[in-house]
Amino acid sequence: MSINSNALSTYKLLKATAEVAEQSLEGRIQHYRAHLKSEDKELRTYTQKAAADLLGVNNRTLKRRHDQGDFDHLHIQKGANGHYAYTLSNIFAMAEILGINADHRDHSDKLQVIVINSLKGGCGKTTSLVNLAAALATTNIKRYRIGIIDLDPQGSSSSFFPSSEHDPITVGDLMRDCIELEENETWEQLVADSFQKTHIPNIRILPSGMDDFYFEHETATELKESSSYEQTRHYHKLKERVIEPVKDEFDIILIDTAPSLNFMFYNALMASTAMLIPVHPEAVDFDANNKYLKRLGEIYHTVAALGHEGWDFMQFLVTNYVKGNHSQRDIVKDVRTAFGRQVMSYPINHSSAITASSSSFNTIFDQKTSDSLASRESLLRAQENIKDVVDELEMLIRSNWASTQSSLD
Ligand SMILES: Nc1ncnc2c1ncn2[C@@H]1O[C@H](COP(=O)(O)OP(=O)(O)OP(=O)(O)O)[C@@H](O)[C@H]1O
Ligand SMILES: [Mg+2]
Repeated sequence: MSINSNALSTYKLLKATAEVAEQSLEGRIQHYRAHLKSEDKELRTYTQKAAADLLGVNNRTLKRRHDQGDFDHLHIQKGANGHYAYTLSNIFAMAEILGINADHRDHSDKLQVIVINSLKGGCGKTTSLVNLAAALATTNIKRYRIGIIDLDPQGSSSSFFPSSEHDPITVGDLMRDCIELEENETWEQLVADSFQKTHIPNIRILPSGMDDFYFEHETATELKESSSYEQTRHYHKLKERVIEPVKDEFDIILIDTAPSLNFMFYNALMASTAMLIPVHPEAVDFDANNKYLKRLGEIYHTVAALGHEGWDFMQFLVTNYVKGNHSQRDIVKDVRTAFGRQVMSYPINHSSAITASSSSFNTIFDQKTSDSLASRESLLRAQENIKDVVDELEMLIRSNWASTQSSLD
């Protein structure tokens, strides 16, 4: 097959552009690292009062336990002011010493697999997901075991939780079955190891990579060559190959998706126990969202026919909401009128702290206040806002865990 000469020029142009893009990307990564001051992300630290608040104990109790030497082996660092500067790992270890149990789901409670999706690009899927995950992980002492699966080959949520490995195994690698097991290694071990530790002690991430795009192409080819669903199980790969092997290691798994209704998305649906749909309250976004919802029903029908067991909840989440903007307020009213209790009570407000943190791939919870490019007030306001959203999300999650229900229920 001969290639048209104009097509060849276009191809050469794209190759040259790819090289420039790669250099630019490398330059930007260096820039972020310089901004973060170290290659490893440094988690914010807590004062003694903040640590006591998080642990739910009296500040004096903490001091007494320090005096008794109960925490000596944790080697807690002190800040420049001579006071203790606790990391979240320190606080979690102190909780164990103080006998404060982690609040994990019971074996019989269902693992929560929450997918965040909308066909509208840029509506706040990734920003919402990473900040909600960080809030769930860091603003209470429950020590939920949280997994994030980045099902968007663009890798945006992976960038918030950078891997220490140069070339980590991605979710696409596992779904595409392109990793060979080492001797004596089981598939379960491989998948568990692929969920990498992050700078937040109770969050692990299964990152994405650009090659994950090949999953779409390969699945289409596979489908041409096979005659029955049982041969390929191409919508069950995420659930069966990735989630089931590690299901006992997590309480909550959050899945970020690309703005696309592709094979990856069908896999996310098949694995999901709940769905969050971000809605950016602008007229064109709301209209696009309504068109997406018409299509989602059809797609879900396919997944249901192949055995999906239904969602525990499906909620709309208003994102990037500019308070005081009249047209946005009218749209939020329309969203609430249309979808009623399916809409989360609090929107995620537009916040300069979120913009600033995101520009260096930080959530508003894991960053040191001094590293934030936004004002302290704006950071605290955004944290309070996300905590309100997370309180409701946590209630929705826990209502599916029989073991956590009060005996009065
Ligand atoms: N609450 C917020 N406050 C300030 N900026 C926000 C907020 N939510 C999202 N943004 C900004 O909006 C832009 C798009 O957000 P984000 O990347 O989360 O969208 P997305 O839906 O994941 O996009 P994509 O479809 O490309 O995956 C980003 O620049 C992000 O920083
Ligand atoms: Mg995204």
